[in-house]
Amino acid sequence: MTDTIQSQALDLAEFRRALGAFVTGVTVVTTIQPDGSPRGFTANSFTSVSLDPPLVLVCIAKTASSHAVFSATDHFAVSVLAEGQKAVSGVFASKSADKFTQVDWHTRATGAPLMNGAAASFDCRTHDVIDAGDHIILIGRVVDFTHTTSSPLGYCRGAYVNFSLSQEALAAAGSRAKVGAILELDGGVVLLDTPQGLELPCGVKLEPSSDATSLRGVLAKLGLDAHLDFLFAVFEESSGHAPGVHVYYRGRVSSDGLAVPSARVRVVPLGEIPWDRIRDDAVRSMLQRYVRERSEDAFGIYVGDTATGKVQSLATSH
Ligand SMILES: Cc1cc2nc3c(=O)[nH]c(=O)nc-3n(C[C@H](O)[C@H](O)[C@H](O)COP(=O)(O)O)c2cc1C
Repeated sequence: MTDTIQSQALDLAEFRRALGAFVTGVTVVTTIQPDGSPRGFTANSFTSVSLDPPLVLVCIAKTASSHAVFSATDHFAVSVLAEGQKAVSGVFASKSADKFTQVDWHTRATGAPLMNGAAASFDCRTHDVIDAGDHIILIGRVVDFTHTTSSPLGYCRGAYVNFSLSQEALAAAGSRAKVGAILELDGGVVLLDTPQGLELPCGVKLEPSSDATSLRGVLAKLGLDAHLDFLFAVFEESSGHAPGVHVYYRGRVSSDGLAVPSARVRVVPLGEIPWDRIRDDAVRSMLQRYVRERSEDAFGIYVGDTATGKVQSLATSH
């Protein structure tokens, strides 16, 4: 009874958003089913539990089609993805019937599949399975593990994070830099309407806000109170209208941060961006990647970008 009252009192969409602030890595959890075929899914609920004995856990939604397989398996493996493995995450977050033909994998101690190129991996015997609300907690006793020097793939607020980008961006700082931002507000992205088409807010450097040529200065002038969370992309443009190093952050504008926005500001829902009006080819493909990655996170609890709380299916998001 108390549980029901408490969950009714919680705004689930807000709860998801709050959970999305917790930065995690991304893993692929795998096993071999009784018929001998491999099975796996993407998970960011992986956590270390105990050093002695060595235990780790992962939470599996009861709505996942592989839930029954993992709740009964006596072994499983966790591959911690490296930052170049977003595509692997996408494959295992999908309902594809042939996930394992789309990636390279191998086995070690238990026979559960391990992703080639992972930043680390943990091969486990099932230690316990605990029922927990709409998930089960699968606890594994680690019998074998590997790790490399690869940078891990990160995940926060429904999109992937590349930690090593910070160093690249620092190295890229120079006179030919262009520093921009992909900013979200209420499920939409902030675009600027210009005679040449739609653009992301950009400056020639990041700070300070008193300098009208910096990104912070541009945002201040536009009336946008923005929070920049992470670097999203760094790329070199050799041609086009702005050759040089382009650095893009991702972040958010709070609703009250848009009190008196400039007339050029458009907040376009992620699913309704008019791609043909995006002026710059590289920015268009970067934004398309951003929208794709945001929509891959259609699982509510793992990210929480939906205002409605409804689970959006992968099939409709691509
Ligand atoms: C970044 C990311 C993290 C995820 N984390 C989990 C998780 O921890 N547990 C879970 O049950 N599903 C998680 N999912 C969703 C599953 O990967 C997804 O539902 C998948 O389709 C399940 O595969 P299955 O239906 O073949 O079992 C995550 C998805 C993404 C993109």
